[in-house]
Amino acid sequence: MTSLREVLMKKLPKEEAEKAVTSFDIIGDIAIIEVPEELEHREKEIGEAILEVHKSVKTVCKRAGIHEGVYRIRPVKVIAGENRTVTEYRESGARIRLDVSKVYFTPRLSYERERIAKQVKPGEVIGYWFAGVGPFGLVILKRVPNVKIYAIELNPEAVKWMKENVRLNRVEGRMIPILGNVREEAEKIPEKMDRIIMPLPKTGEDFLDLAFRHVKKGGVIHFYYIGDRKDPFTRAEEIIRRKAEETGSKYRIAFKRVVRPFSPGKVQVVFDIVKEE
Ligand SMILES: C[S@@+](CC[C@H](N)C(=O)[O-])C[C@H]1O[C@@H](n2cnc3c(N)ncnc32)[C@H](O)[C@@H]1O
Repeated sequence: MTSLREVLMKKLPKEEAEKAVTSFDIIGDIAIIEVPEELEHREKEIGEAILEVHKSVKTVCKRAGIHEGVYRIRPVKVIAGENRTVTEYRESGARIRLDVSKVYFTPRLSYERERIAKQVKPGEVIGYWFAGVGPFGLVILKRVPNVKIYAIELNPEAVKWMKENVRLNRVEGRMIPILGNVREEAEKIPEKMDRIIMPLPKTGEDFLDLAFRHVKKGGVIHFYYIGDRKDPFTRAEEIIRRKAEETGSKYRIAFKRVVRPFSPGKVQVVFDIVKEE
């Protein structure tokens, strides 16, 4: 198979071609790449090279900014191929449709979604907070069909896609999309949760007290956090201890790990916290 490097070498001067070879995400049939500023005048050629090498890719977008605002949307611009930002992605047998320009989604959490899905037992009631278009819930339901998932999300566009994904995967009544703020919507659900998934790593700590109150004794909270690369866990462990104390909860950390790099000095981490009392 011809490599991206080889195709770029034919389209660009050698020095530019070397700089243009980077890793990129593929979501369904859309590739999302980072184009260095000094190569912006070459973005069309770079996009076309990706289309040539990856035959399943129909559209190439470049990242046009950082994740923004409370919805965590990252602006994109189509630079080659079909002019659209809607696609369908498959993960662990689940179908996930979305508009990459209007919602948060990353394929880089696929291992983490599978890791959590493997822990879920039939009959569980799950709080899926900050649910986006629903990927954690959909992957869980593929593995364990008889659970009930309350999926709360603030971005109306993401909830629109989540509803579409519930329909596509035929999980109506098992994953319940709820539009609104976790702080208000979680309080309206009368049941306590066997498990709460909290994939909001930057500000999720503000909701950890709520999670301790809403999880059952013996239940698990999957808490995400952005820690320092050199010492990823200590600050988060201090926050967990404080939030547990505030809510009169006893807990143990059953598992923790670095999930992925976040920025040069930071990493995303996860804690599986079991509420003991
Ligand atoms: C990092 S994304 C995770 C999305 C999804 N779980 C995934 O893995 O693709 C965080 C999501 O939380 C939503 N969000 C932020 N604050 C929220 C709040 N207070 N209540 C409900 N959703 C919120 C954002 O709109 C965004 O879609």
